[in-house]
Amino acid sequence: MKKETILDGNSLNGDEFEASIRPQYLNEYIGQENVKENVKVFIEAAKIRNESLDHVLLYGPPGLGKTTLAHIIANEMGVNLKTASGPSIEKSGDLAAILSTLEPGDVLFIDEIHRMPRVVEEILYPAMEDFELDIIIGSEGQSKSIKINLPPFTLVGATTRSGDLSSPLRDRFGIVCKLNYYTDDELATIVKRTSKIMNMKISNMAALELARRSRKTPRIANRLFKRVRDFALVEGSDEISLETTKSSLNKLKVDNYGLDEIDIEYLNSLITKFDGGPVGIETIATSIGEEVTTIEDVVEPFLLQEGFIKRTRSGRVATDKSYEHLGISHSYTLFDTIDSDE
Ligand SMILES: Nc1ncnc2c1ncn2[C@@H]1O[C@H](COP(=O)(O)OP(=O)(O)O)[C@@H](O)[C@H]1O
Ligand SMILES: [Mg+2]
Repeated sequence: MKKETILDGNSLNGDEFEASIRPQYLNEYIGQENVKENVKVFIEAAKIRNESLDHVLLYGPPGLGKTTLAHIIANEMGVNLKTASGPSIEKSGDLAAILSTLEPGDVLFIDEIHRMPRVVEEILYPAMEDFELDIIIGSEGQSKSIKINLPPFTLVGATTRSGDLSSPLRDRFGIVCKLNYYTDDELATIVKRTSKIMNMKISNMAALELARRSRKTPRIANRLFKRVRDFALVEGSDEISLETTKSSLNKLKVDNYGLDEIDIEYLNSLITKFDGGPVGIETIATSIGEEVTTIEDVVEPFLLQEGFIKRTRSGRVATDKSYEHLGISHSYTLFDTIDSDE
């Protein structure tokens, strides 16, 4: 069983509230300036040419705004959005069925597109390139291939791992956007926005504190906001203060850096059981009872970005920052040179 924690960037059950606070248009989408600028130009150009928008690939860690951006693209283009997810499209017929419901200009959003089976993927190539559906009908021996024309549409694919995408698929996206972690100021702005929508004030200092502890991820900032709001409500406050924010985050076991229990367990294991590494990801995952995919998609990207660990050819290595953060002293050896491959 996969453990769910409050700092997991993946959406959890009971996150319907996300839909209510999701920005609908580009001007409400905070941060990611570079991506926004590009998307804006491409959308305007497509409108001027009166064509469908080129296919868009969005990639980045969970919770950074991929699904949100897909919806925004459809809204800005003024078209419908149809949603599917990679693992749920099992057979080529499933995809053919979805494709045949598209109307001119529609956006088809495929989440976790890297998990789509290869046979299904192959149906997508001619659909993306020539708006054609090649299907085989009839039984073996008597089967024939027929072509069906599709209306022009825009495929928006989202993935946490662009490296897992096959190159023929990746090459068919005209627009590729990498979403980055957010700055504390951007997250504080997002928290402020959410506080308005949810009708519970929060002081600027408190919003910034929340931002600092949110793993640079909007989904986590919003989720922490909701929890801190509960503490404030019970206290009878009508504005979330810095003190309430700090004390409730401590109760939720979210530390100053935004590291949660899994992060700490990971670092602890790396340092105490494996002498700070190098050690393979499977070994660490087993030692803390987590799934490799959780470690790879959720835990490590943030630890890497914040410089708590390094990835080397021979495995993961804890940095000085980790030792300091955990208050463990680090004894160097003469041969501690690390060959980072990044
Ligand atoms: N740029 C942004 N500005 C404001 N809110 C955002 C932004 N990006 C994400 N969010 C919020 O974070 C939540 C999670 O974003 P989502 O698009 O579902 O992430 P992903 O699909 O990348 O996992 C959304 O409900 C949205 O409210
Ligand atoms: Mg999503």
